[in-house]
Amino acid sequence: MNLINPDIRYLKDIEGVVYDKKWLKTAPNIELYYMYRGLDRRGDLRYDITVMPSQMLGIEFVKTKGHYHPKQYGELYIVLEGQAIYLMQKVDKDNNVVDVYAIEAKKGDYIIVPKGYGHITINPSQESLKMANWVCDGFKSDYSLIEEKGGAAYFYTLNGWIKNENYDNVPDLRFEAPEKKEPEDLSFLN
Ligand SMILES: [Fe+2]
Repeated sequence: MNLINPDIRYLKDIEGVVYDKKWLKTAPNIELYYMYRGLDRRGDLRYDITVMPSQMLGIEFVKTKGHYHPKQYGELYIVLEGQAIYLMQKVDKDNNVVDVYAIEAKKGDYIIVPKGYGHITINPSQESLKMANWVCDGFKSDYSLIEEKGGAAYFYTLNGWIKNENYDNVPDLRFEAPEKKEPEDLSFLN
């Protein structure tokens, strides 16, 4: 790990998207995950590492806040240690979900975030998750669409997947498999 200071995300930063509001009322402002940005560069692409220790947010498994990119930019994740679930969703112009799917991944897996999809990452395990991503540098992620709805379309909890009632007509959650090697065509990145 590089000796640079990570950006730390605290519970306060993501409280608007946490499922378990009862737990939230008395929860301390704990550290959730650590983002080490810009550890490598290739052209206009940036390599980051995120570390997310195993933790429960009440009954919900710890997760990232979630965001969308400008439409022309996807992202590539690599699980370095532990396990992850990547939730991807696509919305229409009124912020209604038109597609939502999950990818369960473990160490060594590659995960493509397609252009136009918002994404969150969940640590569903009892080990620390360490993941890397390649992403185009120089755009700002949009957190507002997911914040506005109090989270993504589904929450992953001790009771399984729970639909977010703030969205109307959410499609059933479908599942896709991760890639087992680095994709040759990286044109979804930029
Ligand atoms: Fe992203």
